[in-house]
This record gives sequence, C-alpha cells and structure tokens, in this order.
Amino acid sequence: MSLLIENAKQIVTCHTRGRKFKAGKYQSEIGLIQNASIFTENGRIKWIGKKIPSSLRKSVKQQIDATGKVILPGFIDSHTHLVFAGDRANEYSMRIKGATYEEIAKAGGGIINTVKATRKAPVNELLKLAKKRIDSSISFGVTTIEAKSGYGLDTKTELKMLEVIKELRKIIYIDIYSTLLAAHAFPIDISRKEYIDKILYEIIPLTAKRGLASFIDAFCEKNYFTPAETQLIFEHGRKFGLVPKLHTNQFYSVGGIETAVKCKAISVDHLEVMTSREIKALCGKNIIACVLPTVSYFLDIPYAPARAMIENKVPVALATDFNPGSSMTQNIQLVMSMAVQLLNMNIEETINAVTINAAAALGISDVTGSIETGKQADMLIFDTHDYRDILYHFGVNQLKTVIKKGKVIHKY
Ligand code: NIG
Ligand code: FE
Repeated sequence: MSLLIENAKQIVTCHTRGRKFKAGKYQSEIGLIQNASIFTENGRIKWIGKKIPSSLRKSVKQQIDATGKVILPGFIDSHTHLVFAGDRANEYSMRIKGATYEEIAKAGGGIINTVKATRKAPVNELLKLAKKRIDSSISFGVTTIEAKSGYGLDTKTELKMLEVIKELRKIIYIDIYSTLLAAHAFPIDISRKEYIDKILYEIIPLTAKRGLASFIDAFCEKNYFTPAETQLIFEHGRKFGLVPKLHTNQFYSVGGIETAVKCKAISVDHLEVMTSREIKALCGKNIIACVLPTVSYFLDIPYAPARAMIENKVPVALATDFNPGSSMTQNIQLVMSMAVQLLNMNIEETINAVTINAAAALGISDVTGSIETGKQADMLIFDTHDYRDILYHFGVNQLKTVIKKGKVIHKY
C-alpha cells in the first residue's frame, strides 16, 4: 500500500528534532515546510520533499492532489471516557439553572448515575455507542484516541468496559489506548476499604493478566481518592506494568501533583486549580500537563494556567476529556479554539499540544504525533492555504481528508 500526497501549500510537521515532547519556547516550533509532497508506504512516511524521485514515483498506488491545501499530523485525543451508557442531560439542565457538579454528585448523581446505566448495559450496546462516538472524533481529525474505564466501580463492569475497548480495535481503524480508571469514584454498595482492596487485588491483576490496559488512572480529589490511596493504587499498578496518569487539581489542590511526581506519572490531567509551587514542581519532570478547557467551559470552573505552565517549561497537551458529565464533546478543534482564546496559548503551541505533546502523554511520540520519515502516516488535509486559518476561522470544520497509517479513513 502506497500513497502520494502531492504539492501541499504547507506541511506542518511538528517535528521533534529527537525530543519526546515540546516544552517552553520549543512548544511554539511547528516545523513548517512550504510547497511539498509526502510519500507513504506500508503505513509509514517514507519521503517528504519537493520533487518525488522517479524510483519512488514508480511505486505510487494512490495519489491525492493537495494543491493549495495544508497538511497536519493527525490529532491525538489523549484523555476520554468514551465508553458509557445513558446520558446526563437532566443534570446538565439542573446545572444550567444553578446546581453545581459537586452538589449533583453529593446527591447521588454524577459519576454514580453513569455507573448505574453502564453496569446494566450489555457489551454490544456499549460497543455500538462507543463506535459512533469515535466516528465523530475522527470527523474532527482524531487519528489516535485514549479511552478509560471508570463507570463500573466493580470488577465485572470495569473489565467489561476494557473488553469493549478491545473489541473496538477490531472495528475501528484508528489506534485506541486503554486506561484502567477503577479509582474514579467510590461505589455506594461497599465500603471504602473494601473497594480499594478490590482494585488492588482483583481489578488490577485481572486487567493486567488479560492485557486490557496500558495505563492506570485515578481521580485524586477532595471526596474522591486521597494522595495516599492514589499512591498505593499506582505503585500496585506499576508492578503489573500499568503506567500512571492522574486526574488531579480539578476542584481542589489536595496533593495530587506531588503524588504524580513521586509515582513518575506520564501525565497529569485537568489542573484547573494549580498553585505556583505545583507548577514549578512539574518543571523538568518529563510529565505532560494535559489541559481540558471544555471541562472549564462546560462546568463553569476556572481554566487551567496553561500559559504559566508553558512559561515554566512544562510540556502542555490538550484533550477533550469527552464524558457525559463534565465535557460532552468529541470536538478536538473546539478544544483548540478554546486554548487560543481562553488559555492564551498561541496557534503553534496549540497545534503541538494536540499532536506531539498529546502523543507523549500516551508514550507514543516516537511513533506518531509528527510528520517525519519513518513515523506512522497519520495525517490530516485541511481545505485552506494557511494553517493559522484552522483556528482563525473558528467553529468551522475545514478538514478535507483523514489519513491513518497511510489509508484514507474519512473524506468530506
Ligand atoms: O475527567 N473528574 C473526573 N472524571 C471525569 C468526569 C466524569 C463524569 O462526570 O462522568 C472528568 O472530568
Ligand atoms: Fe477525565
């Protein structure tokens, strides 16, 4: 299988120069190439340049004319909760009238509400719902996605959710990385201690044994998991080969950042509430700060200090956090627009945040996240002559073609 994408006006490569991610002033570097073509073979980028050598041209099987258009690396949504049943439109309507997310959770709604629906839902129903949601993500340019468990809060349903993700890989062409988030909330039917033991001695070992997840996550927050409980779960997860990622500092600063640093988490996500000491604590730690502006928008809570983090050389990624409670959207381009308008990130920082830095948040920046020879051919063609137009012309999806591993998977 080979593909030639010819004569693009601009190629935004997001090249890494050998780095795993971009931090500080490097987060503004996007590696722009003008008037060039890309040749891919067997799912990988083989050549980028002005005029394709005749030796390669001979093996071209498929050709796309990109004259006047812009090519970007495929977007990576490194934080979603896309497997769930039911919806929380009712709670949304209550929130619009003044109830807060925390009040709704305390009254037995929120995550627990989705847990009830997800426990009841058969695998086939979850699979069908999730497939449709991923198709929507792809339509906005997502070529790699992460998905978490966390709406089971019992062994059977946590594993069922991860099995659904495994099944999705058979029917979806993009890459899906899975995360065990059994520590999302406490179930109401057993004690706190019993649930932690269940996570440690039942859910983690079974997840690992069946090869169902790459990452382990927890919600380290007031009324959820304490730093000590989070650390216990992360250290145990590590023993079973699961890499920690952490939901933290969404509402309160309770010590999650310190825990993430101690446990060498690959990313810390949310960060709406950060002290300057916590920002400094992340500097130089090789931990990606994954910022989720649609959550702030949807819950009407503060926006994460992305600007201050970039200035302190913390690598920033952006994701949708798609879930039924705090961010009911798969639109990664909306996330990008918010980053520019509300987080004070520049256009280049924003593009790196959904490509190379998002890849680093999943530990795959050596494989995807930038357009470089040898890397996976995950690319987007936009119907515009200037990459800045993707953000300037906001609220409009100018995506023309989505290419995953050298194959066209979506066309407008
Ligand atoms: O990332 N903060 C915790 N978990 C999710 C929300 C889950 C839900 O409300 O269903 C989040 O925002
Ligand atoms: Fe989340």
